[in-house]
Amino acid sequence: MAETYDVVTDVNLPLIGEGRPRYEARAKVTGTARYAADEPMPGALFARLVTTPHATGRVTAIDDVAALAVAGVRLVLTHRNMPGLGAAKAYFAGGAMQSSRDPMETDEIAYAGQTVGLVVAETPEAARLAADRLVVEVAPSGSPVASMHAADAPAPELLPEDAHVPILKGDVEAALAEADAVVRAEYRTPMQHHNPIELYFTGAEWRNGILTAYVPSQWVSGFRAGLAEAFGVPTEMVRVVSRYVGGGFGSKGTMLHQTVLAAAAARDLGAPVKLYVGRDQMFTVGSFRGQTTQTIAVGLKDGRLSALDHRQDSQTSRFDTFFLPGTEQTTRMYDWSALRGLEGVVRTDVNTPGFMRAPAEVPALFGLESAVDELAVAAGVDPVELRLASDAAGGEPVDGLPWTSHGLAECLRRGADAFGWADRPAEARAQRRGDWLFGQGVASAIYPTYTKPATAEVRFGSDLSVRVSAAACELGGGTYTIFQQIAANELGVPMESVRVEVGSSDLPVNGVAGGSTQTAGIGSAVLEACRRVREEVARVVTRPGGALEGADAASVRLTDGRAVAGDRAVPLREAMATVPFGIIEMRGQWVPSGVALSETREFYRSGAATQLGFLTEDFARAAFGANFVEVAVHALTGEIRVPRMVGAFAFGRVMNERTARSQLTGGMIWGVGSVLHEATELDHRYARHVNSDLGEYFMPVNADIASVEAIIVEEEDRHINPLGAKGVGELGITGMAAAIANAVHHATGIRLREAPIRMEHVLAS
Ligand code: MOS
Repeated sequence: MAETYDVVTDVNLPLIGEGRPRYEARAKVTGTARYAADEPMPGALFARLVTTPHATGRVTAIDDVAALAVAGVRLVLTHRNMPGLGAAKAYFAGGAMQSSRDPMETDEIAYAGQTVGLVVAETPEAARLAADRLVVEVAPSGSPVASMHAADAPAPELLPEDAHVPILKGDVEAALAEADAVVRAEYRTPMQHHNPIELYFTGAEWRNGILTAYVPSQWVSGFRAGLAEAFGVPTEMVRVVSRYVGGGFGSKGTMLHQTVLAAAAARDLGAPVKLYVGRDQMFTVGSFRGQTTQTIAVGLKDGRLSALDHRQDSQTSRFDTFFLPGTEQTTRMYDWSALRGLEGVVRTDVNTPGFMRAPAEVPALFGLESAVDELAVAAGVDPVELRLASDAAGGEPVDGLPWTSHGLAECLRRGADAFGWADRPAEARAQRRGDWLFGQGVASAIYPTYTKPATAEVRFGSDLSVRVSAAACELGGGTYTIFQQIAANELGVPMESVRVEVGSSDLPVNGVAGGSTQTAGIGSAVLEACRRVREEVARVVTRPGGALEGADAASVRLTDGRAVAGDRAVPLREAMATVPFGIIEMRGQWVPSGVALSETREFYRSGAATQLGFLTEDFARAAFGANFVEVAVHALTGEIRVPRMVGAFAFGRVMNERTARSQLTGGMIWGVGSVLHEATELDHRYARHVNSDLGEYFMPVNADIASVEAIIVEEEDRHINPLGAKGVGELGITGMAAAIANAVHHATGIRLREAPIRMEHVLAS
């Protein structure tokens, strides 16, 4: 058996779960929160990237005369004069880089918008002007294809077993042949871009051989290791700082070449360099959600979901094989008696795709949960009832592992009640009010509970001040606040006494703030550090001459500013007065069982270590939810509105009711954009993006969102980590696309299998 954690009796957590206001709220609203680009860098030069509009070919000529002639220009870097750097490894190869390819290493062009130059000048204006004047001629080769859905796209390649092992159980063909009803369909999802408000940026500065990089980052420890690899220096000679992140969503989880380029220029010039990446450039120098095709067959037998055959094909670049195996999740969603999950890729002329909020789940569940709805319609059963009848709570259906906890059925019931599902007419196109057709849809949500090692440090002073520090990243999820809650709770001091420091690679090492792991994982390390501090306080106060001399140290608790042992209590200040030097400082770590000791060295270098996912040897682990959505579709124009959405979610212990709800409603709102608005459009002739700005890349605004309700379903989980918390950051978006598509079908009788679903698609049907 895996080690288990009794999170109920061992940890008394009165402050945890409460909806505490954000630690950094005041700093953010008053503008004093320092984002990477706000860090003071006296004497800094300004840099600008130059990208090419060509998607394939080679650089044939570079004319930098006009660029160098601009007053104040200090450097023009292209592949011709790029200093030789070490190869920093890509994330999927165990490193920190977004892609395996350094865009300025050779003259080759692999995608439109690839970086081909960097200009550095004394002012941002001069850098921009010089960048515009740098001529990089490219001889295009062949005709590029940037869409896997284009007629001339390469054929999908089924991934070999060393990349992805097919997920198999029983004879899926036979089960589909025997089914009472079968739906076979293909669903498509588009290319999408994260578009955080905070742009990509790097401020780089070398001083006495030490590199400091200010970069918006979800992984300061990993970025530090990546820069150390690139520049061939020990990790101790690099410092990466990212105190706040103005939106990450996965786009800042891996390091981009812009950061390496800025650091190279700063070293070359012997001066600090600030590189601001433009919004349009962000579409091509960073990552994105690649397109997918979901080919699905689902079967129903005796009123239950019986068989799933799911193949996902994902867009990747020509040079990297990037995919996110969403079939891992869909094969575990229901109690299938037979199943097959296959993964393939299609190579296109784009930069390597990456992680974008619930990267595997958003496309895969659009497919699965649409198909399940189609099957319910075909079989004439209620879609909620069908899901409940097919519940896999008894054990994960592929290998039969028990779940650490399983909240899907409860979420479906609670959500249905709150939404008023019972009043929904069974037949489609049955609710017309004026020119509007109303419909209601449902979909299940799932997000695996990932765990990975984490470390933190806690310092407790005799003035009862507490400092919590960890190389964590505040993406807006509530990291600062929740660490503060944990420490205040465990050390018996007010929240205000706890100062939290995150966002610097100088702090205790950690893995990427991704996969919805940060709060529960690093929070568990914070808790461990606090426990060790508490034990030290207990040791000091119970020793001879201590304020609680003779009491059992193991029984000492710190609460309400007091150290308490049985019926004896002393003020904490008095207890701390006898601590040598007046300070207790402790490290805490959280190492999930299943992480090998041999990984220690790499973990302390970069924070990278095995991220235990869905399945361990003993358990399957996931957070669940159920999304209910009402849409109104205009009968004449096809316009789609979303007047009401209700989601119910079970994700272990709630750490902060307010920040958790914010994550869930944020995910639901993004779900609206994800299926109704967002798509990166391509000019297929040139394989270029045509809407790489916030004006034409459609996203929901306030007027698109009406009533949003997130119901938090209490769930106790004793097996995942000391806090009993699963991740909540990505769960909220996972079921939304299908819930909306299903509601559109219920409103109109029209089934749309390709996102985004827009008025023109409704009208065309
Ligand atoms: Mo998230 S897409 O795991 O940063």
